[in-house]
Amino acid sequence: MSLLEVTDLRVSFPTADGLVQAVRGVSFSVDSGRTIGIVGESGSGKTVLTQTLLGLTPGGEVEGKAVFDGTDLLSLRPDQLRRIRGAEIAVIFQDPLTSLHPLYKVGWQIVEMIRSHDRSVSKKQATERAVELLGRVGIPSPRQRVHDYPHQFSGGMRQRAMIAMALSLSPKLIIADEPTTALDATVQAQILDLLLRLQQESDTALIMITHDLGVIADIADDVSSAAAERLRPITGQPPSLIRLPSGCAFHPRCAYVMDRCLTEQPRLAPVGDGDSHISACWLPVLATGLAPETEELRRQAVAQGRHAAAAKIAEAIAERPESEGSVIA
Ligand SMILES: Nc1ncnc2c1ncn2[C@@H]1O[C@H](COP(=O)(O)OP(=O)(O)OP(=O)(O)O)[C@@H](O)[C@H]1O
Ligand code: SF4
Ligand SMILES: [Mg+2]
Repeated sequence: MSLLEVTDLRVSFPTADGLVQAVRGVSFSVDSGRTIGIVGESGSGKTVLTQTLLGLTPGGEVEGKAVFDGTDLLSLRPDQLRRIRGAEIAVIFQDPLTSLHPLYKVGWQIVEMIRSHDRSVSKKQATERAVELLGRVGIPSPRQRVHDYPHQFSGGMRQRAMIAMALSLSPKLIIADEPTTALDATVQAQILDLLLRLQQESDTALIMITHDLGVIADIADDVSSAAAERLRPITGQPPSLIRLPSGCAFHPRCAYVMDRCLTEQPRLAPVGDGDSHISACWLPVLATGLAPETEELRRQAVAQGRHAAAAKIAEAIAERPESEGSVIA
């Protein structure tokens, strides 16, 4: 059994305008020592998905299962989840300033983190551990810098401090939510290397959330070979999560749209070899992938399955300036 197994997770928020369907039926699993990547457009529910695992989406209506180390996180009371947060599952956010309190010294915050989960650790012991952790994540002169305030650290150093804090309780799982988006490319690469190295040293599982496919290709264990080729992004804007399109939610933007895509929602099904690669799409299984022959299969499927209504949508998509180079257009 995997360390974390999420099955058919659904999260929606009732709002004055209607129900926001932020997460619709997500399933995945992650093992100790492995890295899973979650990629998606802005607003596609990546943060809500992982915050829900930690009980941090108040007001959200949650369905599904998220079994972590034998316990369904979604069935736990807030006080039980509080004990798991930090100690067993740690989170690193995009902006460390949302997690680091500006008015407290960095070292003090790590000490508090350690002692809030184990009061038997003395302040002196916890400070020693904070110094050691800051050194481990590459903060120079950690014995002095442990007394700095967050604003005295650069952006990259703050992110390193966040990683130190995440590691402070030796969690089994780290969730990194866009941990490098706010950093420049060089620092980004250093932070990713650091995360990977520390994760491998401690056999921690890592969930890496990003909208950067390059990051995923570098870091995740399970990326299909197609990632080495150029991926073609879908055009247009994500839809309103309150008024989702009928059928396949991608149909107003998909260059392959067929008639049934307008009315029937495709279910997730395995594609390629084995069960590890799944896709929800009405195109035939063999037409999945980036090879030239699969493109031909897609053309054939579209030729058979597209008539009046879908043809109009396809025309509109093809006319968008960003569609240039799209295969079907
Ligand atoms: N408490 C809430 N009430 C209503 N809607 C919410 C709430 N929290 C999140 N949402 C909505 O859920 C959707 C998913 O948001 P989420 O923050 O998970 O996206 P994301 O994929 O993390 O995006 P980004 O890449 O920009 O961080 C958004 O449309 C957001 O507005
Ligand atoms: S072809 Fe696949 S992705 Fe495109 S609209 Fe149809 S079901 Fe959705
Ligand atoms: Mg997010």
